[in-house]
Amino acid sequence: MGNIFAVTNQKGGVGKTTTTVNLAASLAEAGKKILLIDLDPQGNATTGCGIDKTTLVNSSYDVIMAEAKALDAIVRPDNLSFDVMPTNVDLTAAEIQLLDVKVREHRLRIALESTRENYDFVLIDCPPSLSMLTVNALVASKGVIIPIQCEYYALEGLSSLLQTVERIKQRVNPTLEISGLLRTMYDARNNLANQVSRQLITHFGKKVFHAIIPRNVRLAESPSHGVPVISYDRSSRGAIAYMALASEFMRREKLLMADK
Ligand SMILES: Nc1ncnc2c1ncn2[C@@H]1O[C@H](COP(=O)(O)OP(=O)(O)OP(=O)(O)O)[C@@H](O)[C@H]1O
Ligand SMILES: [Mg+2]
Repeated sequence: MGNIFAVTNQKGGVGKTTTTVNLAASLAEAGKKILLIDLDPQGNATTGCGIDKTTLVNSSYDVIMAEAKALDAIVRPDNLSFDVMPTNVDLTAAEIQLLDVKVREHRLRIALESTRENYDFVLIDCPPSLSMLTVNALVASKGVIIPIQCEYYALEGLSSLLQTVERIKQRVNPTLEISGLLRTMYDARNNLANQVSRQLITHFGKKVFHAIIPRNVRLAESPSHGVPVISYDRSSRGAIAYMALASEFMRREKLLMADK
């Protein structure tokens, strides 16, 4: 699916949601039409975009269960320049309910078929698991963005994520690619972080984004104000890093398109 990207890593707390919200905002700032889909029952991206989870009319749960059309679940939050398909804890039930459904891996792909054409990029915030929801995101996507916190256990689990991506690529979504690995919460003074970063580059080469997201308190504070960091403190190191990531991401995607 040409313009859909899953932000995923089954390891918890590595910066998936922070990356989805702030990359969406930075791409929108660059003039792109963006849809952010919250596919994590925790609903952190929903809250981070200033949406009240308790008052949703429709959510990504309704879309994935085919109880609402994608268009009817998409909202444009005040003060943001991109669209959001929010979620809440209802989505937890989808995991179990999907077990009774045929072609359950394709629900999101099918639901987004016409809607995605309204956007330059669609970014999906995935839950911290390799669950049926994550599989739905991977089946619907063209690329996978993997945020990685450069610490001791960072590479553990990466191989099962890569295997899952490979399996989905072979079986159902032949054009699925790793779009990039993103170093998050990076502290260049930390020797271990530098060592893990070098290992990533050795293993994955150009797949590692040049842009590095530093540990920055503004990035941690902005969700409590319901806005991306560029709206909260646009001169912060976090905001500058995510804008650099957005430029690099657009450049890469353009080059890939030109190659095809
Ligand atoms: N670069 C950063 N600097 C400082 N704090 C950060 C940074 N990135 C993320 N955080 C904070 O770290 C925590 C985890 O980040 P985030 O929620 O983005 O991770 P996640 O991978 O989506 O987590 P989960 O697996 O629970 O969905 C949050 O409190 C977030 O505000
Ligand atoms: Mg998250």
